[in-house]
Amino acid sequence: MKYQFKVTQTENSSLSKVDFNNLPFGKTFSDHMFVADYIDGHWTNMEIRPVAPIPTHPGNMAWHYGQEIFEGMKATRDAEGTPLLYRPEKHAKRINYSARRMAMPEIPEDLFIQAVNTIVYMEKAWIPPQPGSALYIRPFMYATDETIGVKASDTYRFIIFVMPVGPYYSQPVKLLAQDIYVRAVVGGVGDAKTAGNYAASLLPATMARKEGYDQVMWLDAIHKKYIQEIGTMNIFFVIGDEVVTPNLDGAILDGITRDSVITMLKDWGVRVSERPITIDEVVEAFKAGILVEAFGTGTAAVIAPVAKIKYKDTVMELDQNIDKISTKVYNTVNGIRNRTIEDKFGWIIPARP
Ligand code: COI
Repeated sequence: MKYQFKVTQTENSSLSKVDFNNLPFGKTFSDHMFVADYIDGHWTNMEIRPVAPIPTHPGNMAWHYGQEIFEGMKATRDAEGTPLLYRPEKHAKRINYSARRMAMPEIPEDLFIQAVNTIVYMEKAWIPPQPGSALYIRPFMYATDETIGVKASDTYRFIIFVMPVGPYYSQPVKLLAQDIYVRAVVGGVGDAKTAGNYAASLLPATMARKEGYDQVMWLDAIHKKYIQEIGTMNIFFVIGDEVVTPNLDGAILDGITRDSVITMLKDWGVRVSERPITIDEVVEAFKAGILVEAFGTGTAAVIAPVAKIKYKDTVMELDQNIDKISTKVYNTVNGIRNRTIEDKFGWIIPARP
Protein backbone atom coordinates (compact mmCIF):
# COMPACT_ATOMS: atom_id res chain seq x y z
CA MET A 1 0.00 0.00 0.00
CA LYS A 2 1.34 3.44 -0.98
CA TYR A 3 0.38 5.48 2.10
CA GLN A 4 1.36 4.65 5.69
CA PHE A 5 -1.43 4.92 8.28
CA LYS A 6 -0.75 4.86 12.02
CA VAL A 7 -3.26 2.44 13.60
CA THR A 8 -4.60 2.63 17.16
CA GLN A 9 -7.03 -0.17 18.04
CA THR A 10 -9.96 0.39 20.37
CA GLU A 11 -9.91 -1.34 23.74
CA ASN A 12 -13.72 -1.23 23.98
CA SER A 13 -15.35 -2.63 20.87
CA SER A 14 -19.12 -2.15 20.80
CA LEU A 15 -19.63 -4.77 18.06
CA SER A 16 -21.16 -7.36 20.38
CA LYS A 17 -23.91 -4.89 21.39
CA VAL A 18 -25.19 -4.43 17.83
CA ASP A 19 -28.43 -6.06 16.73
CA PHE A 20 -27.91 -6.53 12.98
CA ASN A 21 -31.58 -7.40 12.58
CA ASN A 22 -32.64 -4.01 13.87
CA LEU A 23 -30.53 -1.25 12.36
CA PRO A 24 -32.25 2.11 12.09
CA PHE A 25 -30.35 4.14 9.47
CA GLY A 26 -27.54 6.34 10.76
CA LYS A 27 -27.60 5.57 14.48
CA THR A 28 -24.93 2.86 14.91
CA PHE A 29 -21.24 3.67 14.52
CA SER A 30 -18.39 1.17 14.18
CA ASP A 31 -15.29 1.24 16.40
CA HIS A 32 -12.72 3.02 14.20
CA MET A 33 -12.34 5.97 11.85
CA PHE A 34 -9.73 7.25 9.43
CA VAL A 35 -8.42 10.78 10.01
CA ALA A 36 -5.99 12.91 7.97
CA ASP A 37 -5.04 16.59 8.03
CA TYR A 38 -4.24 18.96 5.20
CA ILE A 39 -1.44 21.27 6.34
CA ASP A 40 1.04 23.34 4.31
CA GLY A 41 -0.36 22.09 1.03
CA HIS A 42 -0.27 18.35 1.62
CA TRP A 43 -2.12 15.52 3.40
CA THR A 44 -0.44 14.33 6.59
CA ASN A 45 -1.15 12.79 10.06
CA MET A 46 -2.95 9.83 8.42
CA GLU A 47 -4.24 7.46 11.04
CA ILE A 48 -6.93 5.01 12.03
CA ARG A 49 -8.13 5.49 15.57
CA PRO A 50 -11.13 4.76 17.80
CA VAL A 51 -14.28 6.73 16.95
CA ALA A 52 -14.51 9.62 19.41
CA PRO A 53 -15.55 13.28 19.43
CA ILE A 54 -13.05 15.63 17.83
CA PRO A 55 -12.61 18.86 19.82
CA THR A 56 -13.03 21.90 17.56
CA HIS A 57 -12.19 25.54 18.28
CA PRO A 58 -15.26 27.87 18.21
CA GLY A 59 -13.47 29.99 15.61
CA ASN A 60 -13.13 27.04 13.23
CA MET A 61 -14.07 28.36 9.78
CA ALA A 62 -16.24 25.35 8.95
CA TRP A 63 -18.78 26.42 11.61
CA HIS A 64 -19.10 29.91 10.18
CA TYR A 65 -18.68 29.68 6.41
CA GLY A 66 -19.70 26.11 5.73
CA GLN A 67 -16.70 24.65 3.93
CA GLU A 68 -17.75 21.00 4.26
CA ILE A 69 -18.14 18.26 1.68
CA PHE A 70 -19.01 14.59 2.02
CA GLU A 71 -19.68 11.33 0.26
CA GLY A 72 -22.04 8.45 0.94
CA MET A 73 -20.82 5.00 -0.10
CA LYS A 74 -21.71 1.42 0.78
CA ALA A 75 -19.75 -1.77 1.40
CA THR A 76 -21.37 -5.20 1.31
CA ARG A 77 -20.13 -8.78 1.59
CA ASP A 78 -20.46 -11.93 -0.45
CA ALA A 79 -21.45 -15.38 0.85
CA GLU A 80 -17.83 -16.03 1.94
CA GLY A 81 -17.75 -12.79 3.93
CA THR A 82 -15.38 -10.94 1.55
CA PRO A 83 -15.90 -7.19 2.06
CA LEU A 84 -16.87 -5.48 -1.20
CA LEU A 85 -16.64 -1.82 -2.19
CA TYR A 86 -19.04 -0.35 -4.75
CA ARG A 87 -17.54 1.97 -7.39
CA PRO A 88 -15.03 3.64 -5.04
CA GLU A 89 -13.25 5.44 -7.90
CA LYS A 90 -16.50 7.25 -8.83
CA HIS A 91 -16.82 8.49 -5.25
CA ALA A 92 -13.17 9.58 -5.24
CA LYS A 93 -13.81 11.63 -8.37
CA ARG A 94 -17.03 13.11 -7.01
CA ILE A 95 -15.55 14.24 -3.69
CA ASN A 96 -12.84 16.02 -5.66
CA TYR A 97 -15.45 17.67 -7.86
CA SER A 98 -17.15 18.92 -4.68
CA ALA A 99 -13.76 19.99 -3.28
CA ARG A 100 -12.95 22.11 -6.33
CA ARG A 101 -16.35 23.82 -6.22
CA MET A 102 -15.99 24.61 -2.52
CA ALA A 103 -12.38 25.89 -2.87
CA MET A 104 -11.07 22.94 -0.85
CA PRO A 105 -8.03 20.76 -1.58
CA GLU A 106 -8.45 17.58 -3.58
CA ILE A 107 -7.69 14.20 -2.03
CA PRO A 108 -5.45 12.07 -4.27
CA GLU A 109 -7.76 9.35 -5.65
CA ASP A 110 -5.38 6.60 -4.55
CA LEU A 111 -5.31 7.99 -1.01
CA PHE A 112 -9.12 8.18 -0.89
CA ILE A 113 -9.47 4.59 -2.16
CA GLN A 114 -6.73 3.22 0.13
CA ALA A 115 -8.30 4.91 3.16
CA VAL A 116 -11.79 3.58 2.31
CA ASN A 117 -10.36 0.11 1.65
CA THR A 118 -8.40 0.07 4.91
CA ILE A 119 -11.22 1.20 7.18
CA VAL A 120 -13.73 -1.16 5.53
CA TYR A 121 -11.35 -4.11 5.76
CA MET A 122 -10.64 -3.33 9.40
CA GLU A 123 -14.38 -3.02 10.17
CA LYS A 124 -15.49 -5.96 7.99
CA ALA A 125 -17.18 -7.68 10.94
CA TRP A 126 -19.56 -4.68 10.99
CA ILE A 127 -20.95 -5.40 7.50
CA PRO A 128 -24.47 -6.71 8.07
CA PRO A 129 -25.17 -9.95 6.19
CA GLN A 130 -28.92 -9.25 5.91
CA PRO A 131 -30.18 -8.55 2.36
CA GLY A 132 -30.82 -4.83 1.88
CA SER A 133 -28.44 -3.92 4.73
CA ALA A 134 -24.89 -2.63 4.23
CA LEU A 135 -21.98 -0.84 5.81
CA TYR A 136 -22.57 2.84 5.06
CA ILE A 137 -19.31 4.75 4.55
CA ARG A 138 -19.21 8.47 5.25
CA PRO A 139 -16.04 10.23 4.03
CA PHE A 140 -16.11 13.97 4.73
CA MET A 141 -13.81 16.99 4.77
CA TYR A 142 -14.07 20.29 6.57
CA ALA A 143 -12.10 23.50 7.05
CA THR A 144 -9.97 23.71 10.19
CA ASP A 145 -8.44 27.21 10.16
CA GLU A 146 -9.34 29.13 13.31
CA THR A 147 -10.09 32.46 11.66
CA ILE A 148 -13.11 34.72 11.46
CA GLY A 149 -13.07 36.16 7.95
CA VAL A 150 -14.66 34.98 4.72
CA LYS A 151 -11.95 33.24 2.75
CA ALA A 152 -11.00 29.66 1.92
CA SER A 153 -9.32 27.91 4.84
CA ASP A 154 -5.68 26.90 4.46
CA THR A 155 -6.06 23.73 6.55
CA TYR A 156 -8.60 20.88 6.44
CA ARG A 157 -9.44 17.56 8.05
CA PHE A 158 -10.60 14.47 6.16
CA ILE A 159 -12.41 11.75 8.11
CA ILE A 160 -14.03 8.46 7.15
CA PHE A 161 -16.32 6.63 9.55
CA VAL A 162 -18.58 3.67 8.83
CA MET A 163 -21.93 2.48 10.12
CA PRO A 164 -23.96 -0.72 9.67
CA VAL A 165 -27.35 0.29 8.24
CA GLY A 166 -30.67 -1.21 7.31
CA PRO A 167 -32.90 0.25 4.57
CA TYR A 168 -33.22 4.06 4.49
CA TYR A 169 -36.91 3.87 3.49
CA SER A 170 -38.94 0.87 4.56
CA GLN A 171 -42.03 1.85 2.52
CA PRO A 172 -42.63 3.36 -0.94
CA VAL A 173 -42.14 7.12 -0.55
CA LYS A 174 -44.60 10.00 -0.79
CA LEU A 175 -43.29 13.18 -2.44
CA LEU A 176 -44.48 16.77 -2.29
CA ALA A 177 -43.43 18.91 -5.28
CA GLN A 178 -42.13 22.18 -3.85
CA ASP A 179 -43.05 25.32 -5.81
CA ILE A 180 -42.06 28.03 -3.31
CA TYR A 181 -38.61 27.16 -1.98
CA VAL A 182 -35.82 26.03 -4.30
CA ARG A 183 -32.87 23.74 -3.66
CA ALA A 184 -30.28 25.02 -6.11
CA VAL A 185 -29.72 27.17 -9.15
CA VAL A 186 -27.43 26.49 -12.10
CA GLY A 187 -24.08 28.07 -11.25
CA GLY A 188 -24.64 27.48 -7.52
CA VAL A 189 -23.51 24.45 -5.54
CA GLY A 190 -26.38 22.01 -6.21
CA ASP A 191 -24.09 19.55 -7.98
CA ALA A 192 -21.56 19.54 -5.10
CA LYS A 193 -22.15 17.23 -2.14
CA THR A 194 -21.91 19.92 0.51
CA ALA A 195 -23.70 20.20 3.84
CA GLY A 196 -25.44 23.50 3.02
CA ASN A 197 -27.54 21.90 0.27
CA TYR A 198 -29.02 19.57 2.87
CA ALA A 199 -29.43 22.34 5.47
CA ALA A 200 -31.42 24.38 2.96
CA SER A 201 -33.72 21.41 2.33
CA LEU A 202 -34.72 20.92 5.96
CA LEU A 203 -37.46 23.54 6.34
CA PRO A 204 -39.37 22.43 3.20
CA ALA A 205 -38.79 18.77 4.19
CA THR A 206 -40.27 19.45 7.65
CA MET A 207 -43.26 21.18 6.05
CA ALA A 208 -43.73 18.23 3.70
CA ARG A 209 -43.64 15.80 6.63
CA LYS A 210 -46.35 17.79 8.42
CA GLU A 211 -48.54 17.18 5.36
CA GLY A 212 -47.77 13.45 5.49
CA TYR A 213 -45.08 13.37 2.78
CA ASP A 214 -41.64 11.79 3.21
CA GLN A 215 -39.65 14.13 1.03
CA VAL A 216 -39.66 17.18 -1.18
CA MET A 217 -39.52 16.94 -4.96
CA TRP A 218 -37.47 19.94 -6.06
CA LEU A 219 -38.33 22.02 -9.10
CA ASP A 220 -35.86 24.31 -10.89
CA ALA A 221 -35.23 27.75 -9.43
CA ILE A 222 -36.12 29.87 -12.50
CA HIS A 223 -39.29 28.39 -14.01
CA LYS A 224 -40.40 26.30 -11.02
CA LYS A 225 -41.45 23.56 -13.41
CA TYR A 226 -38.45 21.41 -14.36
CA ILE A 227 -38.05 18.50 -11.94
CA GLN A 228 -34.59 18.31 -10.39
CA GLU A 229 -34.23 15.73 -7.62
CA ILE A 230 -35.65 14.55 -4.30
CA GLY A 231 -34.17 15.75 -0.99
CA THR A 232 -32.31 12.46 -0.56
CA MET A 233 -32.20 10.96 -4.06
CA ASN A 234 -32.25 11.39 -7.84
CA ILE A 235 -35.60 10.65 -9.49
CA PHE A 236 -36.77 8.46 -12.40
CA PHE A 237 -40.20 8.28 -14.08
CA VAL A 238 -41.51 5.49 -16.27
CA ILE A 239 -43.79 7.14 -18.84
CA GLY A 240 -45.18 4.63 -21.35
CA ASP A 241 -42.11 2.69 -22.50
CA GLU A 242 -39.63 5.50 -21.75
CA VAL A 243 -37.68 5.82 -18.49
CA VAL A 244 -36.90 9.49 -17.90
CA THR A 245 -34.56 11.13 -15.42
CA PRO A 246 -33.67 14.83 -15.32
CA ASN A 247 -30.42 15.60 -17.15
CA LEU A 248 -27.44 16.82 -15.13
CA ASP A 249 -27.91 20.55 -15.65
CA GLY A 250 -25.33 21.71 -13.09
CA ALA A 251 -27.83 22.04 -10.25
CA ILE A 252 -28.46 18.29 -9.77
CA LEU A 253 -26.24 15.84 -7.92
CA ASP A 254 -24.47 13.40 -10.26
CA GLY A 255 -25.71 10.33 -8.39
CA ILE A 256 -23.65 7.15 -8.60
CA THR A 257 -26.72 4.94 -8.15
CA ARG A 258 -28.39 7.11 -10.84
CA ASP A 259 -25.49 6.34 -13.17
CA SER A 260 -25.64 2.62 -12.34
CA VAL A 261 -29.37 2.51 -13.07
CA ILE A 262 -29.00 4.28 -16.43
CA THR A 263 -26.18 1.88 -17.38
CA MET A 264 -28.23 -1.20 -16.42
CA LEU A 265 -31.39 -0.02 -18.19
CA LYS A 266 -29.44 0.69 -21.40
CA ASP A 267 -27.84 -2.75 -21.12
CA TRP A 268 -31.34 -4.30 -20.90
CA GLY A 269 -32.44 -2.41 -24.02
CA VAL A 270 -34.83 -0.14 -22.11
CA ARG A 271 -35.40 3.31 -23.63
CA VAL A 272 -33.88 5.63 -21.02
CA SER A 273 -33.59 9.38 -21.47
CA GLU A 274 -31.69 11.99 -19.49
CA ARG A 275 -33.65 15.07 -20.43
CA PRO A 276 -35.53 18.03 -18.97
CA ILE A 277 -38.89 16.89 -17.60
CA THR A 278 -41.52 19.25 -16.22
CA ILE A 279 -43.94 18.56 -13.43
CA ASP A 280 -46.73 19.36 -15.96
CA GLU A 281 -45.53 16.50 -18.18
CA VAL A 282 -45.72 14.15 -15.19
CA VAL A 283 -49.24 15.36 -14.28
CA GLU A 284 -50.38 14.96 -17.90
CA ALA A 285 -48.86 11.47 -18.10
CA PHE A 286 -50.67 10.56 -14.89
CA LYS A 287 -54.00 11.86 -16.19
CA ALA A 288 -53.47 9.99 -19.47
CA GLY A 289 -52.78 6.78 -17.53
CA ILE A 290 -49.22 6.40 -18.86
CA LEU A 291 -47.27 7.35 -15.71
CA VAL A 292 -46.42 3.73 -14.96
CA GLU A 293 -44.08 4.24 -12.01
CA ALA A 294 -41.58 6.55 -10.38
CA PHE A 295 -38.59 5.76 -8.20
CA GLY A 296 -35.75 7.49 -6.43
CA THR A 297 -32.10 6.40 -6.51
CA GLY A 298 -29.32 7.12 -4.03
CA THR A 299 -26.58 5.42 -2.06
CA ALA A 300 -28.51 5.53 1.19
CA ALA A 301 -31.94 4.84 -0.32
CA VAL A 302 -30.69 2.48 -3.09
CA ILE A 303 -33.93 2.27 -5.13
CA ALA A 304 -37.04 3.73 -3.50
CA PRO A 305 -40.38 3.23 -5.26
CA VAL A 306 -42.67 6.28 -5.19
CA ALA A 307 -46.19 5.74 -3.87
CA LYS A 308 -47.61 9.23 -4.26
CA ILE A 309 -46.71 12.66 -5.65
CA LYS A 310 -48.57 15.86 -4.83
CA TYR A 311 -48.23 19.03 -6.91
CA LYS A 312 -50.51 21.95 -6.05
CA ASP A 313 -54.00 20.36 -5.94
CA THR A 314 -53.12 17.25 -7.93
CA VAL A 315 -52.42 14.08 -6.00
CA MET A 316 -50.98 11.23 -8.05
CA GLU A 317 -51.19 7.78 -6.44
CA LEU A 318 -49.04 5.19 -8.19
CA ASP A 319 -50.03 1.53 -8.32
CA GLN A 320 -47.48 -0.58 -6.43
CA ASN A 321 -49.01 -3.90 -7.48
CA ILE A 322 -47.45 -4.05 -10.91
CA ASP A 323 -44.37 -5.71 -12.35
CA LYS A 324 -42.09 -2.74 -11.63
CA ILE A 325 -38.82 -1.81 -13.35
CA SER A 326 -37.67 -0.45 -9.98
CA THR A 327 -37.98 -3.92 -8.41
CA LYS A 328 -35.82 -5.47 -11.13
CA VAL A 329 -33.28 -2.65 -10.77
CA TYR A 330 -33.24 -2.98 -6.96
CA ASN A 331 -32.75 -6.76 -7.11
CA THR A 332 -29.98 -6.40 -9.67
CA VAL A 333 -28.08 -3.73 -7.71
CA ASN A 334 -28.32 -5.85 -4.55
CA GLY A 335 -27.37 -9.03 -6.43
CA ILE A 336 -24.26 -7.35 -7.88
CA ARG A 337 -23.45 -6.05 -4.41
CA ASN A 338 -23.54 -9.47 -2.78
CA ARG A 339 -22.11 -11.23 -5.84
CA THR A 340 -25.13 -13.41 -6.55
CA ILE A 341 -25.42 -11.63 -9.92
CA GLU A 342 -22.47 -11.25 -12.29
CA ASP A 343 -20.73 -7.88 -11.98
CA LYS A 344 -20.52 -7.36 -15.73
CA PHE A 345 -19.79 -3.63 -15.37
CA GLY A 346 -16.81 -4.08 -13.01
CA TRP A 347 -18.37 -2.05 -10.19
CA ILE A 348 -17.32 -4.29 -7.28
CA ILE A 349 -13.83 -4.04 -5.76
CA PRO A 350 -13.01 -6.44 -2.88
CA ALA A 351 -11.48 -4.68 0.13
CA ARG A 352 -8.00 -6.10 0.85
CA PRO A 353 -5.79 -6.34 3.93
C1 COI B 1 -26.57 9.18 0.37
O1 COI B 1 -27.47 8.72 -0.32
O2 COI B 1 -25.58 8.52 0.66
C2 COI B 1 -26.63 10.56 0.88
O3 COI B 1 -25.63 11.12 1.17
C3 COI B 1 -27.95 11.19 1.10
C4 COI B 1 -28.43 11.19 2.50
C5 COI B 1 -29.90 11.11 2.44
C6 COI B 1 -27.94 10.13 3.41
